[in-house]
Amino acid sequence: MPIIAPSLLAANFLQLQDECDMLNNSEADWYHLDIMDGRFVPNISYGPMLVEFFRKASTKFFDVHLMIEEPGNYAEIFKKAGAGMLTVHYEACPHLHRNIQQIKSLGMQAGVALNPHTPVEVLKDILHDVDMVLIMSVNPGFGGQKFIQNTFNKIREVKAMIDAKSLDIKIEVDGGVTLENAGELLQAGASVLVAGNTVFKAPNPTEMIARLKAL
Ligand code: DX5
Ligand code: ZN
Repeated sequence: MPIIAPSLLAANFLQLQDECDMLNNSEADWYHLDIMDGRFVPNISYGPMLVEFFRKASTKFFDVHLMIEEPGNYAEIFKKAGAGMLTVHYEACPHLHRNIQQIKSLGMQAGVALNPHTPVEVLKDILHDVDMVLIMSVNPGFGGQKFIQNTFNKIREVKAMIDAKSLDIKIEVDGGVTLENAGELLQAGASVLVAGNTVFKAPNPTEMIARLKAL
């Protein structure tokens, strides 16, 4: 069964308590929280303060996706805010190994994210240190974008790398995930589905989560 991680970026921010309650009472496994700094990506979302508020309202695991430069300066802050998984971008981390070790030493799981143009081969010497690989299926920065088809190949490739080393590492796919492409993503090897607009803009978000979970 896939792990379903609705992305709060697509929630109605005027009704956050209701959105949290909906997720708490749904089959969602994780909350996916997108942090953007206006530098690594051309958008600014929200910061640790909001994550901390969500933490008080939520009963689920927090999957925090850092789309920021110098993420090492914020690892401890997001741990305190309630992150269970902290994912940093390969492209933002010249000292990725150090970043991953820092996240784990703070007691969180560590993920590494790849932009659409970054080949999965760059993970060769860091794979055994991470708990999750996040394959971006859109260019990071905005919700509601069109899914990039080459994602299927990248998921298959990273799955083969993981299996070849008999590692236990999750593969998360983020951006443009819908009921139409989710099944094939899981077949390719994804185990965590992030869904923003597909969940929050659905007529019945709880039912949409259940349908994704049942794939
Ligand atoms: C994009 C974010 C995504 C985004 C996904 O930069 O990382 O998590 O919220 O939104 P949808 O599912 O609407 O494409
Ligand atoms: Zn994300």
